[in-house]
Amino acid sequence: MPRSVRPLPTVTACALALLLTACSGTAGVQGTAGSAGVHDPYFPKAGNGGYDVTHYDLTLAYTPTTHALTATTTITARATTRLSAFDLDLKGMKVNSLTVEGKKASWTRTGQEVTVHPPATLPQGKTFRTTVDYSGTPETITDPDGSEEGWLRTADGALALGEPTGAMAWFPSDNHPSDKATYAITITVPKGLQAVSNGELRTETTTADGRTTYTWRTTHPMATYLAAVAIGHYDITRTTTRNGLPVYTAVDPHEAEASRKVLARLPEIMEWEEYNFGPYPFSSTGAIVDRRGDAGYALETQNRPFFPGAPDTATLVHELAHQWYGDSVTPKTWRDMWLNEGFATYAEWLWFEDHDGDTAQQTFDALYQGDHDEIWAFPPARPTSAAHISDSPVYERGAMVLHKIRRTVGDARFYDIVQGWAAAHRHGNANTADFTAYVERMAPGRDFSGIWKDWLYGDGKPARP
Ligand code: TRP
Ligand code: ZN
Repeated sequence: MPRSVRPLPTVTACALALLLTACSGTAGVQGTAGSAGVHDPYFPKAGNGGYDVTHYDLTLAYTPTTHALTATTTITARATTRLSAFDLDLKGMKVNSLTVEGKKASWTRTGQEVTVHPPATLPQGKTFRTTVDYSGTPETITDPDGSEEGWLRTADGALALGEPTGAMAWFPSDNHPSDKATYAITITVPKGLQAVSNGELRTETTTADGRTTYTWRTTHPMATYLAAVAIGHYDITRTTTRNGLPVYTAVDPHEAEASRKVLARLPEIMEWEEYNFGPYPFSSTGAIVDRRGDAGYALETQNRPFFPGAPDTATLVHELAHQWYGDSVTPKTWRDMWLNEGFATYAEWLWFEDHDGDTAQQTFDALYQGDHDEIWAFPPARPTSAAHISDSPVYERGAMVLHKIRRTVGDARFYDIVQGWAAAHRHGNANTADFTAYVERMAPGRDFSGIWKDWLYGDGKPARP
């Protein structure tokens, strides 16, 4: 059986949250309070219980010179229980007013939790709208692993990036990957600047007072951590892939020269990924390239992955592969990160294999034989703590798990699994147990127990490659 290495402090926090929820649940004759957090094993405060968001409508106005953000977010959600109160996740910013179903609501704030008290208890099943007016200078959030996310200031504007929890720096939400929703993001910036986000650009209006408003719409479900805004000067290119998919790229002029060749391959990469992974799940693609150092990492922001500086081909292949694995099929909790990173890393190996590079087997062997202790630090499906969810076992050893599956079932069945998995959970959520069950269903009679035990859940370096 897999050995659980869930860190103790998290277990304690979860147990406590569970207890409190249960208490308020039984005592709530007047209604129930939705919980703070959804018991994520790595980020217990992330997300909120008691409702499901269907749509976020964000109206943002940002002035880079003062770093001031003035915003309104309307959240459409369905109560999954009777709600006398519910939480939103928002870190920093000043809440100026809050309404539920158009009526003034009171609220309290503790850390990243905004607890909303609607004027009347919301019945279970009710779809309700919450509107939050807020303003201030949005924060940069430091991850448990030390990387920076949330709202990042750049030389010519700003960047909003959200993995794993940064969304709460710039909009109130149910900030957990398990609650996906559609979005409308409207951004007003000083004239001369661009604002780029997820989905498709709907309107571009220059207003009379020297400001430009951009409206972006995401019509497929998106996790909060994949929502992005990039404000600044960008060279915009619009093309289409051969099957008519719109491609929108925004490149900081400083990175234009270095990006030209690699971004010209984006349509070809998309076609190769569609061939291997199945139909693309979204209605547009592209990229956002900002300056090197504007962020410490690339990110698979939905539709339009983000890159700090011109990407190399492997990184572009990786972030585009996430559109299937991560963005469309989204982890149920942050423990399931390897389902994102293992697939995106294996996509790189497959790309090299198909483009005159090393075979995936050669990449696997080099990692297994090489002096790479970090790969064996913990099992991919059980990162040691929140500080380690983007470490090498999640990426490289996660990819090695997929390669082991491929070796067990053969290429034809392997690609059936890879495509079938993307299709089975398209626009949804899945976890590691869903994945292992799926693989077993797709290859009856094959024994995967050793792969699961040694490669996915086992401590240390597996004895056999
Ligand atoms: N998901 C990103 C990638 O592999 C990397 C990343 C950025 C990340 N920020 C993170 C991973 C925070 C985990 C947590 O392309
Ligand atoms: Zn990745």
